Amino acid sequence: MKVNKEQFKRMKRNEFVRTAIEYVDTGVVITDPELPDNPIVYANEGFEKLTGYTSEEILGFNCRFLQGVDTDPGTIAELRDAINKEKKVKIEIKNYRKNGQYFWNELQIYPVHIESENQTYFVGVQQDITKRKEAEERSEHYLDEVKRLSTPIVPIDRNVSIVPLVGKIDEERIELLLHHVSSHIQKSGDEYLILDLSGVSHFTSELHKGVYQLHQLIKLMGAELRITGIRPDFVLEGIQADFSLSSVKSFPSVKHALKNIDDSSSIN
Ligand SMILES: Cc1cc2nc3c(=O)[nH]c(=O)nc-3n(C[C@H](O)[C@H](O)[C@H](O)COP(=O)(O)O)c2cc1C
Repeated sequence: MKVNKEQFKRMKRNEFVRTAIEYVDTGVVITDPELPDNPIVYANEGFEKLTGYTSEEILGFNCRFLQGVDTDPGTIAELRDAINKEKKVKIEIKNYRKNGQYFWNELQIYPVHIESENQTYFVGVQQDITKRKEAEERSEHYLDEVKRLSTPIVPIDRNVSIVPLVGKIDEERIELLLHHVSSHIQKSGDEYLILDLSGVSHFTSELHKGVYQLHQLIKLMGAELRITGIRPDFVLEGIQADFSLSSVKSFPSVKHALKNIDDSSSIN
């Protein structure tokens, strides 16, 4: 076959592209939707390395063999829908290597129309994002742990628990506090809750309102709030506002609050 300069250039470019795709460090597959079940007609070395399958083992098969017990059916449905509509799609999916080990696959699929054949193929690009995914999961777990520790509830007696708050209390922590305390009181049936604010760094109006809400909530649940470790002016603040704390019993320390609870229990 005789080729002119333009054709030669194009061939060179195609060869270059093929070689580049062959050796890139991500998985690349091409599937042919004209064939039954849209099977793989090409897989590069990156795909073989990523999945542990050789090209010979997987050519002619649909890519779903990478899915397994923990693959999310919703994500598979999303893929199915995009492929049916010939739309490009990018998702994160849990897949399995030949040896059964799972990996997180950032999968991109593009429909590619080849003019000369008047046919659409699909190109899939697979990227192993397991490390990133696991780091994300770990940080979500730590975040939950930090949230849990940000409003610790310490049961110290049959009917008394202490919540020692430390640091800056913003709206999010107040919401967590209300949520944790209400489910704790419901479960434990505690009669008293001591909110110790001696470790709080800023006495803000947000905190004032939060303590007031906690007081109302606890009262509704049939228990009583005691606050400790605050400046007296904090209690008085808000008297003009709708959330006065003047009816909440406040003590200089947890020890004093406990003594008061003991005394009132023995009187009753
Ligand atoms: C080009 C291409 C690449 C694909 N790569 C993957 C893949 O790496 N992992 C995967 O779980 N599914 C992959 N799929 C999706 C599955 O082949 C299949 O379309 C999906 O499971 C939804 O169809 P089904 O419900 O018939 O299984 C790919 C699909 C195409 C078209």
